[in-house]
Amino acid sequence: MKQICVIGVGYVGLVTAACFADLGNRVVALDVDEKRVENLKKGIMPIYEPGLEELVRRNTKSDRLSFTTSYAEGLKGAEFAFIAVGTPSGVHGNADLQYVDSAARSIAKHMTAPLIIINKSTVPIGTGDWVADVVRSAQPEPIDFAVVSCPEFLREGSAIGDFMNPYRNVIGSLNRDAADKVAQLHLPLRAPIVITDLRTAEMIKYASNAFLATKISFINELADLCERVGADVKEVAAGMGYDARIGRHFLDAGLGWGGSCFPKDVEALAYMAKEKGLNPRILNDVMEVNYDRRRAVAGHLEKLLDGNLKGKTIGLLGLAFKPNTDDMRDAPSVDISNSLIAAGARVRGYDPVARKTAAPWMTVVEIFDDVYKMAQGCHALVVVTEWNEFKQLDLEKIKELLECPVIYDGRNIYDPALMKELGFSYRAIGRGMNGK
Ligand code: UDX
Ligand code: UDX
Repeated sequence: MKQICVIGVGYVGLVTAACFADLGNRVVALDVDEKRVENLKKGIMPIYEPGLEELVRRNTKSDRLSFTTSYAEGLKGAEFAFIAVGTPSGVHGNADLQYVDSAARSIAKHMTAPLIIINKSTVPIGTGDWVADVVRSAQPEPIDFAVVSCPEFLREGSAIGDFMNPYRNVIGSLNRDAADKVAQLHLPLRAPIVITDLRTAEMIKYASNAFLATKISFINELADLCERVGADVKEVAAGMGYDARIGRHFLDAGLGWGGSCFPKDVEALAYMAKEKGLNPRILNDVMEVNYDRRRAVAGHLEKLLDGNLKGKTIGLLGLAFKPNTDDMRDAPSVDISNSLIAAGARVRGYDPVARKTAAPWMTVVEIFDDVYKMAQGCHALVVVTEWNEFKQLDLEKIKELLECPVIYDGRNIYDPALMKELGFSYRAIGRGMNGK
């Protein structure tokens, strides 16, 4: 049983804390947000993540997991301190490190024994070395410490599964003893462990997210071509995916990627390249292709609705940036609703869980708590997020309720042939109907 302090109880920190506790460690999760900590002590989660509430409850009950706002309390007896605070995009697309800086200084001030400090947050290459400098200069008196990078690879909506069954864990440090100790923490997960230097570990994280984003932008570019040439992108992705060199994952064409990671990570990687005098051509295009997906929706709808969106009511199916989360950070629904409103449409929205979190992002969108009520009187529906609930909709009822039977399926969840049979004016992404 190891003693661990996790700093930051957002999506990443809270999942990391609860999972390490569940593996039998003693974990104190620390956050500067008093309300969050108060709520967690009462069992109220700050985020929606499947299975998290139960995991937190179980481990709190068995005294392996506790919450605090005090660094002195959090670091008392800790051998490891994970930094999992947010690293949002700064004004130029660079990563804003003010929270990491603040966490590093607080650790330096309150540590009373040797400590392994682990960066979990996604941070620019070189940040580990910088954190070491910050801690060293902020320590009232020198106490031994090592900085290790151990980036997170947790997808929202399946974060607990991703933590417990990772593809790999990456551990980077120039201090081999510290890296080995962090590796031992991960041994129960029985996954490959990559031990490398700090900067390489930091790069592996950016490279992984940027590559996945590239895969998605690639298939989205091909989707547009599929439409023009009469091919079906879903079958193209399936056919490509059997080749182990390519793989089927992250080849779902649609409205593109959003969320708290891909947008800021691709942008930060491009920023780093530019700062070093390089021209990140692929990364720039990957972003451009992605944001074009959102910009194109209003034009497609116009074509489906007699060339004009003025006075039309459009309903968005799904608001969160992906299913199984209530996270609205860089959600396509926000840009799409803004462009529809700019084109003169009235916009409605429905999401199974993100209704509350969506409201501040889309103040002029009317948010419904019932999908059928939302559909009533709409001139078109747009599938923005592929929640399972939408796959099971009573489509005949939906057709009755709609003013015009128009569906723009931004996530390819319906069968084009069935939609045609039901009498919808249906448009999917990259699904040419040649021969069907
Ligand atoms: C994380 C990572 O930090 C990011 O780099 C990664 O790529 C994605 O996930 P996330 O867990 O989503 O971010 O962040 P967020 O949900 O914003 O939570 C951060 C938490 O840190 C908040 O609860 C905030 O109150 C806390 N925090 C912030 C601190 O405890 N101390 C601070 O100084 C600042
Ligand atoms: C991502 C990383 O996958 C994870 O390892 C960690 O680094 C955090 O960032 P997350 O953003 O939670 O996870 O979700 P993910 O499932 O990766 O999806 C990211 C975005 O890509 C979503 O907007 C999703 O809708 C989109 N996506 C994903 C596609 O458009 N097509 C796909 O085939 C897959």
